Amino acid sequence: MFSWASLPRPIFGVSPMADMTDMPFNLVCKAHGAPVIFKEMVSSEALFRKSEKTIRMTTNDDGERPVIQQIFGSDPVIMAKAAEFIVDRCHPDGIDINMGCPVYKIVSNFDGAALMKDPERAASIVREIKKAVQVPVSVKTRLGWSNDRDCLDFVRVLEDAGAELVTIHGRTKAQGYSGVANWERVGEAKCGVSIPVLVNGDIVSPETAKRALEISGADGVLIGRGVLGHPWIFSEIQAAMNGSEYVPPTLQDRIRIVRMHAELQVNHYGERGLIKLRKHLPYYFKGMAGWKDVRQELVHVSTLAELFEILNRLEKIADVSFSES
Ligand SMILES: Cc1cc2nc3c(=O)[nH]c(=O)nc-3n(C[C@H](O)[C@H](O)[C@H](O)COP(=O)(O)O)c2cc1C
Repeated sequence: MFSWASLPRPIFGVSPMADMTDMPFNLVCKAHGAPVIFKEMVSSEALFRKSEKTIRMTTNDDGERPVIQQIFGSDPVIMAKAAEFIVDRCHPDGIDINMGCPVYKIVSNFDGAALMKDPERAASIVREIKKAVQVPVSVKTRLGWSNDRDCLDFVRVLEDAGAELVTIHGRTKAQGYSGVANWERVGEAKCGVSIPVLVNGDIVSPETAKRALEISGADGVLIGRGVLGHPWIFSEIQAAMNGSEYVPPTLQDRIRIVRMHAELQVNHYGERGLIKLRKHLPYYFKGMAGWKDVRQELVHVSTLAELFEILNRLEKIADVSFSES
């Protein structure tokens, strides 16, 4: 059985992103060196109701493993039943509890980041899920609701309740995505617990990964936005850690990756999966000379044939450079 102790340190993983870290994209990330995946969040209420759509979102391919299923909700009993159901049915390697999502629809139900304001309920959720499943239980949270020191006590509450790992996005709920992630505060939180802590927020390159680890002293990092259109970031980080040279993917390499992503998407969702793929596509070519024109075309594709026609045209461009923008 998977355990957090079995992963090499530092741990590098894909951060959960709703509508993004689904099976096809997770497989692309794994094929490019991602050591562990946190799958997009799903509603515990929907799992409790056995919603077919939600169950489909939690189906795993063995190529995604180790894969951690994130769930959200605020009723400890329903959260535990949902976790038990999904572990029995889809066998994720771990369950992660969302205690950081700042979106109104979520916090207005007392889910996600709202749990930081109710540590007792948060602890009860961890305890009930631990009783219900055998796989490791972790939590992903933020620095606090509006006070960036709340995490210092909150992570201790989570550890006492039995959480086996905590990921901290270095921003408060109030900050949303503004400002910069405070990796130092994540480090202060880490010092108060003995379970592994992952640092998250604004890690987009080997340099930022290294700095976030140095500043926080964390056991690893989760990468969210930095992995979109850039699933090879894990190989790039690994090369930097080994001191070996890394040759970034050429345009032709990127096209091959997009083809792979598109085919996996169609296998999983049927051709309507191309519509879902639209939001990923521009990221792969961001920074390329002439990117804005390509972007316009990519966000309108509906069929594999349309996409492949654009890619075939792009493939004929012999040499193209990518800027960081
Ligand atoms: C499109 C999108 C969807 C997200 N969905 C989730 C989610 O389902 N669960 C979660 O815990 N965090 C979610 N997040 C937050 C990310 O996992 C991550 O904590 C945040 O983006 C900061 O990390 P980054 O700077 O590496 O992106 C989402 C972020 C984005 C941009």
